[in-house]
Amino acid sequence: MSVAYSPTHGLGEEQSIWFKLTPLLSQDDPMAVLMRLAEKYGGVIPVNLKNQRVVLLSDVEHFKRVLVEKVDNYTKYFDGMRPIFGKSMITIDGALWQKIRRPQQAAFHPSMFEEYFPFLMDAIRAKADRWSKFAETGETVEMVEETWTLAADMICKALFDRTMPFNPHFIFGAVKTYTDVMNHKKVRLKKVSGELNEINQEDAAKASKAWGEVPDQVLAADPIDNRQNTLLTMMLEAEADPDFPEFDHQQVVDEMKQYLWAGTETTALTLAWCLYLLSTNPGVAERIREEANRVCGDREPNWDEVQHLTYTRMVIQETMRLYPPIWALIRIAAEDDEIGGHQIKKGDKVVMCTYIAHHNPKYWSDPEKFDPERFSKERMKKRIKYSYMPFAAGKRACIGGALSQIENTLALVTLLRRFSPEYVGDVPAKIQSTVTLAPLGGLHFKIRELS
Ligand code: HEM
Repeated sequence: MSVAYSPTHGLGEEQSIWFKLTPLLSQDDPMAVLMRLAEKYGGVIPVNLKNQRVVLLSDVEHFKRVLVEKVDNYTKYFDGMRPIFGKSMITIDGALWQKIRRPQQAAFHPSMFEEYFPFLMDAIRAKADRWSKFAETGETVEMVEETWTLAADMICKALFDRTMPFNPHFIFGAVKTYTDVMNHKKVRLKKVSGELNEINQEDAAKASKAWGEVPDQVLAADPIDNRQNTLLTMMLEAEADPDFPEFDHQQVVDEMKQYLWAGTETTALTLAWCLYLLSTNPGVAERIREEANRVCGDREPNWDEVQHLTYTRMVIQETMRLYPPIWALIRIAAEDDEIGGHQIKKGDKVVMCTYIAHHNPKYWSDPEKFDPERFSKERMKKRIKYSYMPFAAGKRACIGGALSQIENTLALVTLLRRFSPEYVGDVPAKIQSTVTLAPLGGLHFKIRELS
């Protein structure tokens, strides 16, 4: 059983930083606003809000201070995200975080990826079959939903040894209801003004219920292959360990939720933004196909060949520079500090805007240009440390970053060799920055099957 949260508990609560930042984030081009602020006021911008001080950071030396040098001075901020993440490790700090992370770490060691490879390919093939039908009917598809459902399938198969026992399209909708800060804000404003908000409350309650039921459905499903050493078996072993009372059943449930969100939404946004960029840069898509033909002939890649798909990987890295799925990292100052000559007070919220660093001409030449060659071995040597942080940095960096790049390399190569996904929306696509950097209204494509 999951812990019950009020259905409208969350991002729209008045004290939530997401609620406080909505005037900024609901602008037509929120990232351009942030960039202008940094240009005008520099790399440290203290903002005094009612009962709360927020400090926006965008210089690499300040990222290093918070994430590495004084990491224990800055704790995680996850208020408003509890219905999604529960008490999973992404939300906790200190010795408990370390204890909870330890038994899961092995599942993300690169030596495990070969074992995941056939399961990742199964999920991608199923997606390709679905796209073949779209190519026949000529219907328009929303790409974030397509890539989200693919990423969820990959996580379930590779890490949990289960075929998805839930309707991923329905769960995708439920999760969106939750992470849509604007919607939460509307619910809250109506509450404050005494208006009835039955419909929104009802939607939020349904979303919360659907999401809360997912881990138990996965646990109840039959294993695909009875593998002994999956992320799920590692977590169940920790639960069964009498010397590890902290890793109780709720912990297993919440860790699963965390993987189905943190490992799905981010990987999916990367692939969807990547297909958008490729649709507007067809020469790059062609180079990916050429690389795949050169490395794998006319077959699907085998595991040994995946390491040689270097250009494809560079395209994915450049996508995450332009569209970092997690565009900001938030921490709470546990003690007073000083950053760039500005006093940081205990309790201040520190927002590290990785998006700004990724687009800053101080760190990147011609930063708005889509140029995968930036990630060539030669040019990487010259890169300024901490100027590229899609997976954060330091001990709290993403556990699944390497895995996500394998997932997206395989998906990109396999899908692009069979299809030409053609973006049919406005260029440039508008951004909706909530917890993630998502396209406003989605990314709409027509799928054409290559002969
Ligand atoms: C493109 C894909 C991905 C991106 C951009 C991404 C980004 C991030 C970032 C920025 C953080 C740090 C958040 C913070 O410090 O506040 C993080 C943490 C985390 N990510 Fe990822 N992630 C991706 C894929 C994945 C995958 C595939 C998984 C697992 C299947 C995963 C699981 C996690 C977990 C569990 C944490 C928390 C780690 C901890 O606190 O110890 N992520 N991710």
